[in-house]
Amino acid sequence: MTTAANGPESGARTAHPDHLGHVIFITAAAAMGGFLFGYDSSVINGAVEAIRDRYDIGSGTLAQVIAIALIGCAIGAATAGRIADRIGRIRCMQIASVLFTASAIGSALPFALWDLAMWRIIGGFAIGMASVIGPAYIAEVSPPAYRGRLGSFQQAAIVIGIAVSQLVNYAVLQIADGDQRGKILGLEAWQWMLGVMVLPAVLYGLLSFAIPESPRFLISVGKKAEARKILEEVEGKSVDLDARVAEIETAMHREHKSSFKDLLGNRFFFLPIVWVGIGLSMFQQLVGINVAFYYSATLWQSVGIDPTDSFFYSFTTSIINIIGTVIAMVLVDRVGRRPLALVGSVGMAIALAVEAWAFSADLVDGKLPTTQGAVALIAAHTFVLFFALSWGVVVWVFLGEMFPNRLRAAALGVAVFAQWMANWAITASFPSLADWNLSGTYIIYTCFAVLSIPFVLKFVKETKGKTLEEMG
Ligand code: GLC
Repeated sequence: MTTAANGPESGARTAHPDHLGHVIFITAAAAMGGFLFGYDSSVINGAVEAIRDRYDIGSGTLAQVIAIALIGCAIGAATAGRIADRIGRIRCMQIASVLFTASAIGSALPFALWDLAMWRIIGGFAIGMASVIGPAYIAEVSPPAYRGRLGSFQQAAIVIGIAVSQLVNYAVLQIADGDQRGKILGLEAWQWMLGVMVLPAVLYGLLSFAIPESPRFLISVGKKAEARKILEEVEGKSVDLDARVAEIETAMHREHKSSFKDLLGNRFFFLPIVWVGIGLSMFQQLVGINVAFYYSATLWQSVGIDPTDSFFYSFTTSIINIIGTVIAMVLVDRVGRRPLALVGSVGMAIALAVEAWAFSADLVDGKLPTTQGAVALIAAHTFVLFFALSWGVVVWVFLGEMFPNRLRAAALGVAVFAQWMANWAITASFPSLADWNLSGTYIIYTCFAVLSIPFVLKFVKETKGKTLEEMG
């Protein structure tokens, strides 16, 4: 008979699952939510001009229709934790899949502007849900020795989703002779861009039927035998399974349903660990990463690149993003999360400072001088590379694994809610900030990259190689 006390010694930390391929399949299926997250949040860029034209609206209204999806994301993130703790991670994925599917169809075939905005909010809600369940579920089914790498699948899926949406937009535009409102089989090009999302949305739902429920969730609702079976599948036969089940159970203190109340601390409203999650989430956004994705065309044009070539440069940014993500996937379980985050912060701070310098040059015919233009282009790609090999991956891995079992889903919800709000603040403020002073805007992002260094050094603990039960 084994006891909970020998849990961490039961081989879990170093265990190699017997069926690593199966664990990879489970992780990849759950990461489809990340793909939809990346696709849905970036596809709209290809459709904005057509929406403006079709509904004859000004920039202000257009910006609101676009940004409103982010409110849906924030609400979805804030509620997903609670739903996932009540009905399970898998059911939650299925709900998200239905919402993604409905939003893809609804926003491709809107009968009015408010209808389009409503479907975008619903799609945002699904993104918010997926951005919470994905990392939580992946961390909960991963054997500790591989958890960083498997957790990185979430970010890998997001960056692939962004790249695929750019390719789809490009392909659809080519078929429609470069016109966002050009007709293809009775529908306008932009409707196809939004509607194509039906395919991955349905696939996400179907795949969720092929993967097991999280063993931590099962234990929290008393289904120990089922949990034991799944732990054997994912952590391997060499692990002492009874000890693992007992260890997880003890760690949960039998208080399985985390609620918002559990996250509250005495002195600073939330527990310190929740603040660390919020800080990680916010710094990830405050360095301005999504400006590089959502406003790339504007940036490239200010550098002097022809608008028709800006697709090419936006796509190269996506490719660099994918390369950086792969580097992080290889390193995250070897060197650990903290060193990667620190290297990334330093690299991003330098690249952002160089961008700020380049953008400070006086414009000639509305464009940067050749040298500064080239420097800005290289610095922007360097920034994305450093982000991708560090904060892009590391934050999603940390958020999945850093919270104790009992708090995970609810705490993740709060941290991801903060992330969507920070994303909104940065993307909504960029146009006015850029009008004020583009170089000054990049100095602000540089300051956030610099500040993230003492934040990590002081508050963020390494999680590499520990079992989830050792966190907290
Ligand atoms: C991370 C961020 C997301 C961003 C992406 C870019 O996933 O959370 O906001 O769009 O990285 O790669």
